[in-house]
Amino acid sequence: MQFHVLTLFPEMIENGCDNSILKRAMAKKLIGVSAVNVRDFTLEKHGKVDDYTYGGGAGMLIQAQPVYDAWRSLQKRGEEGKRIRTVYVTPKGKTFIQSMAKEFAKEEELIILCGHYEGIDERALEEIVTDRVSIGDFVLTGGELPAMVMIDAISRLIPGVLGSEESAQTETFENDLLEYPQYSRPEVWHGKPVPQVLLSGDHKKIFKWRQEESERLTRELRPDLYEKYEQRQKTIQSLLKHKKENAYLIDGLMRGTAKLLYAEGDQAIGVDVNTGTVMLCCDDPETGKRLMKWAPAGHPVLLHNCAALIDYLQDELGYGEMDECYQSVYTQKNALPVAHKDVRPFPPEMLDYAAENYGREAKEYLQERIRSGAFFAAFEDGELAGFCGIHMGGSLGLLFVDPKYRRTSVGSSLASYLVNKALERGGLPYAHIRVKNEASLKMQQKMGLYVGKKTVFWTKKDLQS
Ligand code: ADE
Repeated sequence: MQFHVLTLFPEMIENGCDNSILKRAMAKKLIGVSAVNVRDFTLEKHGKVDDYTYGGGAGMLIQAQPVYDAWRSLQKRGEEGKRIRTVYVTPKGKTFIQSMAKEFAKEEELIILCGHYEGIDERALEEIVTDRVSIGDFVLTGGELPAMVMIDAISRLIPGVLGSEESAQTETFENDLLEYPQYSRPEVWHGKPVPQVLLSGDHKKIFKWRQEESERLTRELRPDLYEKYEQRQKTIQSLLKHKKENAYLIDGLMRGTAKLLYAEGDQAIGVDVNTGTVMLCCDDPETGKRLMKWAPAGHPVLLHNCAALIDYLQDELGYGEMDECYQSVYTQKNALPVAHKDVRPFPPEMLDYAAENYGREAKEYLQERIRSGAFFAAFEDGELAGFCGIHMGGSLGLLFVDPKYRRTSVGSSLASYLVNKALERGGLPYAHIRVKNEASLKMQQKMGLYVGKKTVFWTKKDLQS
C-alpha cells in the first residue's frame, strides 16, 4: 500500500512514520509513505500558498492552484483513467472508524490531503477529493496528525505489518465490543493477582471470561457501542430460528464482518464490510421492500432469500442478472473428521495451477485468498490433489479436485477441512451451490450439511444505467 500525503509540513509526516512498526513495514516494502510538499507546486514567486478568504473572516485559506497541481503530479503516475482515492482530512468529514480503516486497507494507493490554517479552497476539493474524513469531534491545527492516525490504523490491517495476523483480528471494535483486559508477568503485582481463570489453561473458560469482560467494559465505558452490540445479538437470535435459510447474514453478524443495517424481528438487512454485498433475509415481500430502503447507495450486489421480492427488485430497483443457489449449512458445533492427513494452506507458488483449473479470470482473487490464509490444498503423496477456500464474503467453496483424484475422498476431505476452518472462526459454516450442481449438493448432504428449504439469490445492479 502506497500512501501519498499532500502537506505543507512533509517533515512531520516523514518523522512521524519513521518509527517502530511503520518503519519496519516500510523497510519490508509492505507500505510506502511519501510526503509531497504542496508549496513546491505554487506558481507564486515567493512560494506563497495561502490568501485571504472571500467574504471576510479570520484566517488564511490554502489556494486551489498548488493543491490541484500537487495532486495532478500523483495522478499522472497512476494508470490511465484510474484515479487514486483522495481523502481530505478535515473536522467536517465523516468520523474515521475501524470499518473505514478496513475499507481503505483494500486500496493499492491512497492520497491523503492535509489542510492547514482555515482549510483549502472548495473548488480544488470539489475536483480532487473522493472522501472527507475527520478523526473526531475536535479541531486540530492541521491535517498532519489525522493523516498519521489514518496511516497507522490502515497499515496495521495490511497482512504482514503486525507480527501475528491474529492480533489484528480478535480485538476492540471487531464485534462492536471493546477488548477484554490483558495481563502479563508477574502473577501478582502491587498485591493484585492475575484473574485465576487465565492461569487455568481451560480455553473454553478463558474465552467465556474474556467475552463477559468485553461486554462489561463496553457496557460501562461505551454504552452507545453496547446498544449496537445488543441489537445485533438480538437479531442473530431471531435469525437463528431459520438458520438454514438465513445462514449468510447470521455468519457475517456472528463474526463481525457484516454490519447490521436494520431489523424487523426475524427479518433483517446487513452489509458485508469486506465485499460491500448487501444481505437481505426476509419472508414477507412488504417487509423486504421496507428493509431495502436501508441498502446503501452504490452497492451493486444483493444477496437475498425472498423469491416473492424478485419482481420488485427487478422492476423497481433495477437489479438484473441473477444466480439461484441452494444454501447448505453445518449446524453442529463439533469438527468433522478429515480423512486426508495432508491438507494445508495453498502454496503461493502453485497459483497458476489453481487459476488454470478454477478460471483464469479469478487469478487475482485466488491470489488474494491465498494471502488472506483462506485457500487450502490437499496433497496425495506430495502431489496436489485438489483445493478449496473460503470466499471473501464468508461462504465455503472454491472447490476443485484434480481429475486423477475424483471418486476418491479428496473432495469430502477438503470440504470437511473447510467446515472445520469456518468453525474455528466462530461463525456458522455455509456454502452456496448453484441449483444445477446436484453432485456438489449430494456430497454436502453426505457430509452432514443441511440444505435450507428456500434457495438464495445473488443479484446485481448495473450502476452505470
Ligand atoms: N484537521 C483539523 N482537525 C481535524 C480533525 N479533527 N480530523 C481531521 N482533520 C482535521
